[in-house]
Amino acid sequence: MCGIIGAVASRDVTSTLLEGLKRLEYRGYDSAGLTVITSDNQFERLRASGKVKYLQKLFDKHPISGNTGIAHTRWATHGKPSEQNAHPHIAGNEVAIVHNGIIENHQIIRAKLLSYRCDITSETDSELIAHLVYLELNAGNNFFAAVKNLSHEIEGAYAIAIIHRSEPGRMIAIRKSSPLVIGLGTNENYVASDALVLLPLTKRVIYLEDGDIADIYTDKVIVYDVNGNQVQREIHILKDSLAGAEKEKYAHFMLKEIYEQPDAVAKTLEGRLSSRHVLTEAFGIKAPEIFNQTKHVMIVACGTSYHAGLVAKFWIEEIAGISCQVEIASEYRYRQKIVEPDTLFITISQSGETADTLAALRSAKKYNYLATLAICNMPVSSLVRESDLVLMTDAGPEIGVASTKSFTCQLASLIMLSIALGSYKGLDPGTETNLIKLLSSLPRVLEQTLKLDLSIKNIVSDFQNKQDSLFLARGILYPIAKEGALKLKEISYIHAEACPAGELKHGTLALVNPAMPIIVLVPEDDLVKKIKSNLEEIATRGGNVILFADKRVELDYSQARQIIRMPVVERLLAPIVYSIPMQLLAYYVALLK
Ligand code: M6R
Repeated sequence: MCGIIGAVASRDVTSTLLEGLKRLEYRGYDSAGLTVITSDNQFERLRASGKVKYLQKLFDKHPISGNTGIAHTRWATHGKPSEQNAHPHIAGNEVAIVHNGIIENHQIIRAKLLSYRCDITSETDSELIAHLVYLELNAGNNFFAAVKNLSHEIEGAYAIAIIHRSEPGRMIAIRKSSPLVIGLGTNENYVASDALVLLPLTKRVIYLEDGDIADIYTDKVIVYDVNGNQVQREIHILKDSLAGAEKEKYAHFMLKEIYEQPDAVAKTLEGRLSSRHVLTEAFGIKAPEIFNQTKHVMIVACGTSYHAGLVAKFWIEEIAGISCQVEIASEYRYRQKIVEPDTLFITISQSGETADTLAALRSAKKYNYLATLAICNMPVSSLVRESDLVLMTDAGPEIGVASTKSFTCQLASLIMLSIALGSYKGLDPGTETNLIKLLSSLPRVLEQTLKLDLSIKNIVSDFQNKQDSLFLARGILYPIAKEGALKLKEISYIHAEACPAGELKHGTLALVNPAMPIIVLVPEDDLVKKIKSNLEEIATRGGNVILFADKRVELDYSQARQIIRMPVVERLLAPIVYSIPMQLLAYYVALLK
């Protein structure tokens, strides 16, 4: 999850690179660096641990300039965060590279390079790329051939930008399973890992496809496909709406995005509902035929998107009456599968570029699935391009690394999908109309739920100095307990575990003690009695319970230390509504820490 920006121009590009790095800051990183080719064809490099402001300080002390350059924000995977491990990496004072991704065969390559006495100076897998290109140049290959040959040596996921000291005004970029976008300027061109970064520079972009190599000059960009054929990739015009990616009045993007949820969900529903139906064609022209034939569903995703899939299983089985399996992409992709006839294969992803999800989709294509459907937030992504059917979540750009609005928009899309499938499987028309009404009221309920902000902020002191926490729920809210635990781990670094409340007595109860916050989700549904008896079990062991409970649920107040009353919501929509306090809780605990 590193960030890349590169530029070739007829002017000094250092400020462009530094500004680009600042726009990449939202990804979270531990070091940053940049390299330019100076007017006398030398490399000048600056690297610093920590935030871009430290790199900026370094630059202010030791200004450098050059018309061709690459820059990088690093999130350490191979080798600790340090200046030495920061990108760009340089080999033989000839080649400089920045890389986003993971080189899986790095050990074999390192051994080979060491046997050639290459001067490897970092612990990273990325530096090896620079040495491989340098070796190819030394073997007599030209710059382009040297990069092309690289793709035969490295395995894994990569987006790489490379410059050659003797060829200023030129940059070569290559990608496989990691996103890379080319920006087309006026007499200058750019490369970046994220289109948002390019927005102040240009709106005209080319999204590279897997295996593409782009030869980038100030006045032209030539793209070659995986087979080495020159290809014309479509030029996309970035929407102005992307420019809104600023924090505005909010302290952090995460909080802003939490607050955007009523609007984002409304946009996701917009144009997809009539007063009585979900408009099936919204999934693609072939959707009516495919949904009619669908007998089973297989959902594959990672992280938060996987949790959306777990909720969808409840909806698809209950609303559409068809069986549904859900699996983590990094598991699914590596196993042999048995596929029932007429199974619809679904991927869920905010980015549409998650390597495991993409690999799972590609692996699924080798089996006899009926069709593939992507629920995705990025219209120009590999997942969207490679799927038969698509439903775009209209969450808008999600800058916060913690998924928030993309999750609730995924859920809104998945309940629409369940209703759409249901309409082909004998879903009662009255029930269908009621579900549509419920869905239409969702943005308003989300707005009410956001009013809990202050109450949630007020309870987080319970997490001060805590190392562990437990999230409990039953049924359709269990995936939301998992999502709450993931959010808390991800941004507050507190260990959090989710457990179906009915499973407590089979071991996890042993962990309950007054020192550990236990978050319990209690919607008004037919499992409420069961969860109350779980609360009894916890109270007996002096558990420190924080309850998020529907206003209608009668509670024994002695069983909880804190109680947050949730707005009244129909059971089937509860997962979407209860996600919001989980996000706010994680956000405020992280602030506290
Ligand atoms: O872009 P994707 O939805 O495919 O990403 C999958 C996960 O990496 C992602 O959902 C991750 O778990 C969240 N950002 C966590 O908040």
